[in-house]
Amino acid sequence: MINVVVCKERQEIAERGADRLVSVIGEHDTPVLGLATGSSPIGMYEELIRRYEKGEVDFSRVITFNLDEYYPISPDNDQSYRYFMNRHLFDHVNIQMANTHVLDGLSTDVEKECRAFERQIEEAGGVDIQVLGIGRNGHIGFNEPAPSLVPGVHKTDLTESTIRANARFFASESDVPRQSLTMGMANILRAREILVIAYGEDKADAVAALLSGGVTTACPVTFLNLHDRVTLLCDRAALTLCGEGVPQTES
Ligand code: GLP
Repeated sequence: MINVVVCKERQEIAERGADRLVSVIGEHDTPVLGLATGSSPIGMYEELIRRYEKGEVDFSRVITFNLDEYYPISPDNDQSYRYFMNRHLFDHVNIQMANTHVLDGLSTDVEKECRAFERQIEEAGGVDIQVLGIGRNGHIGFNEPAPSLVPGVHKTDLTESTIRANARFFASESDVPRQSLTMGMANILRAREILVIAYGEDKADAVAALLSGGVTTACPVTFLNLHDRVTLLCDRAALTLCGEGVPQTES
C-alpha cells in the first residue's frame, strides 16, 4: 500500500522529502539516489542545499542516476536535464560530478548508452531511493501511457500532451525535443524505496489512479502499486479526485 503523506504546503513537501533523502544518505557508505527533474522536486533540492550549507548532510560519497533526458539535446542546453540538475542541486553541494549520471542526450549509439547506464546502476549496487514526479497524464520518467510499457532504459517518443505540458519551459512548442531517453518501468521498480512528489490539481487524475490500487499501462504511475515501499508526498489539491477514504498512513 502507498504511504500517503498529506502536506499543508509545498515547503512541507520539500522538507519531508529532504528529511528522507538525508536519512538514506546517512544510512549507506555509498548512497545511491535516483533523481528526477520537473518542478515537483525543486523545493526539495533547495532544502537539501540549505542543509548542506548548515553542515547537516555530506554528498561526497553520494552517487546519483537521473531518470531521463530529452533526445536529442546538448548537456549545455539550459532545458536539458543535465543542466537542470547542475543548476538546482549538483553545483551547490560537495557531490563529485563523476558520480552523477544523466543519460547522454547527444549519444550516437543509443542502445550502447542505455545498456551502459543500466550496468552503471548495477555496479553501484542499485538505487537506494528513487525520487519521482508525475506527468499530468500519469507518466513517470518518460514512460508515457501506451498499450505496453518498456522494462529497461530506452529511447521513446513523447506524447503530444507531454510536449504541450513541457513547452512552458522552452521558447516555443516546436523547440521541445520529440524524443527522450528514460529509465524503464523495471529500472524504476527495482529501486529499494520510491518517493513520489505530487502537488496541485493538475496531478489529481494521476494520483486518483495511483491510489485506486490498480495497475494499468494507461497510467504508468499506477505500476508503483507493485512496489512495497512507496511514499507519496502530496498536497490536498492533488487528492481532489480521490474522494473519501484516501489510505493516509502518516500526516
Ligand atoms: C517531465 C519529466 C518527469 C516529471 C514530469 C512532471 O515530463 N520527464 O520526470 O515527473 O515532467 O513535471 P512537473 O514536476 O514539472 O509537473
